[in-house]
Amino acid sequence: MIDKNRTSVFRLALLKWDKMDNDRPMPWKGEKDPYKIWLSEIILQQTRVEQGWAYYERFIKSFPTVQSLAAASETKVFKLWEGLGYYTRCKNLIATAKFIAHELNGEFPSSYDAILDLKGIGPYTAAAIASFAYNLPYAVVDGNVFRILARYFGIDTAIDSAAGKRLFTLMANDLLDKKQAGIYNQALMDFGAVMCKPQLPICSTCPLQKSCKAYADNRVNEWPVKEKKIIKKSRWFYYLIIPQGKKIAVRKRTGKDIWENLYEFPLVESTKAISLKKLIQTAAFKKWMEGASFVISPIGTLFQQQLTHQTIKGKFLQVQIKGNISLAGYEMVSLKKLSTLPFPKLIAAFLEKEYRK
Ligand code: ADE
Repeated sequence: MIDKNRTSVFRLALLKWDKMDNDRPMPWKGEKDPYKIWLSEIILQQTRVEQGWAYYERFIKSFPTVQSLAAASETKVFKLWEGLGYYTRCKNLIATAKFIAHELNGEFPSSYDAILDLKGIGPYTAAAIASFAYNLPYAVVDGNVFRILARYFGIDTAIDSAAGKRLFTLMANDLLDKKQAGIYNQALMDFGAVMCKPQLPICSTCPLQKSCKAYADNRVNEWPVKEKKIIKKSRWFYYLIIPQGKKIAVRKRTGKDIWENLYEFPLVESTKAISLKKLIQTAAFKKWMEGASFVISPIGTLFQQQLTHQTIKGKFLQVQIKGNISLAGYEMVSLKKLSTLPFPKLIAAFLEKEYRK
């Protein structure tokens, strides 16, 4: 599909760069244990290497084998995951560890198709595990690879279209050095992160510069092309800190919304900012406070967390109650217990700042 000459120029230059100039250190590099590779790849699915590094090391320390992860309490695993976001990854991590430990005798699958069948593993992660652990010839194809190929070959097909995904996947597999798929894939990932970066790529010392279409046409910032713009909505979360004795009310979030399985304080949600006066007139607040007198006061500043499709603005309010209230669906926990529960990043940041946990 791609001209043979260009394929070998690309491949050789990439592998030479990897050998001579790629000194990006990462704890999972060269790792052969599929369990550890899997763990690192799940962490890295939506997380930057710099942030994922310490999580990976803590996970490996707490759970050195798939059996130990499968046997752990789910709250403990969620607590270790706290701050990484995209919690479906963590849920699938637990489910897959249990599946491997109980159904596969603790043995990680060793074919691409069997790896791809595991929960939480898509084509990218399956290719990464198959090539790193078993040197199987599957190319990794993600945003980094789209960008490198779109620039180098000057491709105008949108990377977020079905046609784009098909085209880039075909090209990536064509370019793959099938004899050393693991080394080649890791080199390509590193090249995308270190050289052909989304912003300010290092073209001046790039080993592919001479044959790069985007560089030749001075259009490096125009590729890759995207079809859709993400529309973001804002949500305002007013969290009530309601101490009763030495305990505080919390609940585990359920349902299909964000932050499923994470804990939170009694919540009044709004689509826009509201005043304290408005807040205490909301149906939820009135129902909780029925018959009790209270004093409410804001704590600290506004906290904000950016998710892919939404911005969460969080405000925390202390509510001192006189009398008794019943908060259906919430449990009262001590501060000590509180520090063992997994919270969304926004709440963890608040606790760190105001309570130092
Ligand atoms: N992103 C996803 N997997 C990666 C890996 N193995 N190394 C660096 N970045 C990655």
